[in-house]
Amino acid sequence: MNATPSLTQQPLQHVEEWDDFIAGRYREGKGESEFRQYDREANPAIAEFYRLNHAGQTLDFVLGKEKQYGSLTRGKRSIGEAADYLNTLVDDSDPDTDLSQIEHLTQTSEAIRKDGHPRWFVLAGFLHDLGKVLCLYGEPQWAVVGDTFPVGCAWSETIVFHEYFAENPDARVAEYQTPCGIYETQCGLDQVHLSWGHDEYIYRVTRQYVPEPAQYMLRYHSFYPAHRHGAYRHLMSAHDEAMFGWVEKFNRYDLYSKGAAKPKLQELRPYYEDLIAEFFPAEIDW
Ligand SMILES: [Fe+2]
Ligand SMILES: [Fe+2]
Repeated sequence: MNATPSLTQQPLQHVEEWDDFIAGRYREGKGESEFRQYDREANPAIAEFYRLNHAGQTLDFVLGKEKQYGSLTRGKRSIGEAADYLNTLVDDSDPDTDLSQIEHLTQTSEAIRKDGHPRWFVLAGFLHDLGKVLCLYGEPQWAVVGDTFPVGCAWSETIVFHEYFAENPDARVAEYQTPCGIYETQCGLDQVHLSWGHDEYIYRVTRQYVPEPAQYMLRYHSFYPAHRHGAYRHLMSAHDEAMFGWVEKFNRYDLYSKGAAKPKLQELRPYYEDLIAEFFPAEIDW
């Protein structure tokens, strides 16, 4: 279960490379033509990462991961312990990473706090990437990060590196290749299986403790085809549409807080301990 994926399954130096790619892609004011320069030649590691992701995220794969992790049997941990655990993912001495995991989480949540948003919104900022502990469970990068998309129905043309879906076995299942696939029109996203990754996992771990808009932020923050490109509206309910206002609000902080000054973690610790205690018991199931 904890088997380390082979090197060929891990094309990125570390999973933050995907986050950086996304941030570059949606840099404010960046045009569609610039975006297109991200091809295999310009960024072979990213392209290979997406190839593995698009080939491997089948409906069967997702259902299997939902079953494997959905009942939260990986043990009990406090939120603080999970954050410390996640921080072991990237070695501090890694010259390519200027921010630790906790620093990225805190930078996001501090930017939200500075704008005067409610405490649950700040909390969502602090929690949003904790699902990346999946890497430490031995999951390959392509099953932890990457823009998410529904499985069991046609892949939107707005998904980056769409051509790699040709390698996905679901491409040969006619039922999965219609716009709605196995779902009903406007059935609501809760009925829809998205590609497996850190979003769905942290949503499942925390959903009983945080308010609904925070659940949407955690669950759909990597669902760029929907929240950035307006795709998959035919599967969303009116309630999803309303809640996606929060997801869009959140996305700005995830993408654009990285340039801010490094958060002073020691000073901020009491604030976050209080915030976490307000919503969570001492330990929760992971
Ligand atoms: Fe994330
Ligand atoms: Fe993030």
